[in-house]
Amino acid sequence: MSTVGPIATIFVVTLFSALLIIDPSNALDNGVGLTPMLGWMSWMRFRCNVNCKLDPDNCIGEKLFMSIADTMVRDGWKDAGYNFVNIDDCWQADERAADGSVVANSSRFPSGMKALGDYIHSKGLKFGMYSAMGSTTCGGYPALGCISLDNCSMAQRDVATYLSWGIDYIKVDSCSDSNSSNFNTTHPYISKLFLDGAKKVSRPVIYHPSGITLTNNIWKHGPKKPQQYKLYSKIANTWRHYADMGPVWDMVDKIIDYWAADNNETHPVSYENEWEDFLTVSKPGVYQDPDALVAGNVNNSKECLPCNPYGDGTGFCGGTKGSAQQNTPCLCCGTLSSTEELTNFVMWAMFAAPLEIGADIRSIPDTSANILKNVEVIAVNQDPLVYQGRRVYNVNGLQVWKKHLVDDSVAVALYNANTTTASIPLIFEDVGFTDCDRVNIRDLINHTDLGTHINSIVMPSIPSHGVAMLKLTVEW
Ligand code: GLA
Repeated sequence: MSTVGPIATIFVVTLFSALLIIDPSNALDNGVGLTPMLGWMSWMRFRCNVNCKLDPDNCIGEKLFMSIADTMVRDGWKDAGYNFVNIDDCWQADERAADGSVVANSSRFPSGMKALGDYIHSKGLKFGMYSAMGSTTCGGYPALGCISLDNCSMAQRDVATYLSWGIDYIKVDSCSDSNSSNFNTTHPYISKLFLDGAKKVSRPVIYHPSGITLTNNIWKHGPKKPQQYKLYSKIANTWRHYADMGPVWDMVDKIIDYWAADNNETHPVSYENEWEDFLTVSKPGVYQDPDALVAGNVNNSKECLPCNPYGDGTGFCGGTKGSAQQNTPCLCCGTLSSTEELTNFVMWAMFAAPLEIGADIRSIPDTSANILKNVEVIAVNQDPLVYQGRRVYNVNGLQVWKKHLVDDSVAVALYNANTTTASIPLIFEDVGFTDCDRVNIRDLINHTDLGTHINSIVMPSIPSHGVAMLKLTVEW
């Protein structure tokens, strides 16, 4: 007969959880980003809008980033936990300086990047930057040019430049001639340059390879790609590997389905082991990125355009360097309902994904802001275990997802992918409890306790494309 009582069990479990948190083995040992990054990024709303003459408040320039930093502090975003201001593409001058260094566009960033970083830091926020592995970024601006390990001398100089600006985060995209077949060597190389350089300036940098497959189906690229999960978990804090997100429902729904990794059409059985890696690779300091949030990216401006990823032909905003579209000011605007915005936010929290706001927080509607500032949902995303939520039930579009938390409770999302309102049953055994556990249930979206239940609960009236989010804790 076991003499181990509940208190001893709690102790052992807590010790085990703590060891998980502090053991960085096989992870990028840079001590930052232990839980998913919370912040804001420019691409989702402002794309490559570089016409500051016609659109001075919304163009990619220091004015935009300073006003976003101000808003993060003034409007409670920082208090809710969001602390990264991430500049995405199109900040660069068209050409490198005469000495070969990468420089910001001087009319849009007249004070320079170091000054902008200092401003962001003075607000108690962190400063994120963007480049790409190939010769140019996806927007056509100068990038690292590290196409293979023989060509990385420019990249060494660029890494030093970025570090001298005081960055806290770097996204390294995959465009132009970036040669994905060399990523298994070029990304570890660039990651190490940042790791070593950051030690010298005592400012650790989150490393984020992006677009390691810019496609809806990673498996198309052959057997080497899936094996990259383990590699990236050793050299990166987070990485993107799905098509670009757009502010349309279809994209949110597709990403949710992809992250479930249990669908034989997109996840061939021959890659079963790799899919297990995909589902289990997250840990403190390591998490996967399904792209920034589109919640709040509403159509409230005459400059709004339906905004889709590069090249899909159905709508565009920004354009690449020198293209005709760059003369037309634009904002990238979406069509999500409030219900769908909440689902975007809750599911990204369940994935243990970075929560990067992609909306104009200076003019965001209160309904969207309230969704994105829900502290109980953010707490699930920020749980120190960094467990990537997984789908455990999916019948006729009614889904149950679970995410284990460090205190042994479990966050659950009940997601209705259908077009009509539905009730979704939750069987506690499906999410890790026994059928005689007494389980306390809290509704994290509405901040209410739903009492103690045994075996199961049914959540009624979950709207089409909507979610409920619960926290389940055993009553000892
Ligand atoms: C790619 C990335 C996007 C964005 C753009 C910038 O498409 O996937 O997230 O950074 O490039 O050009």
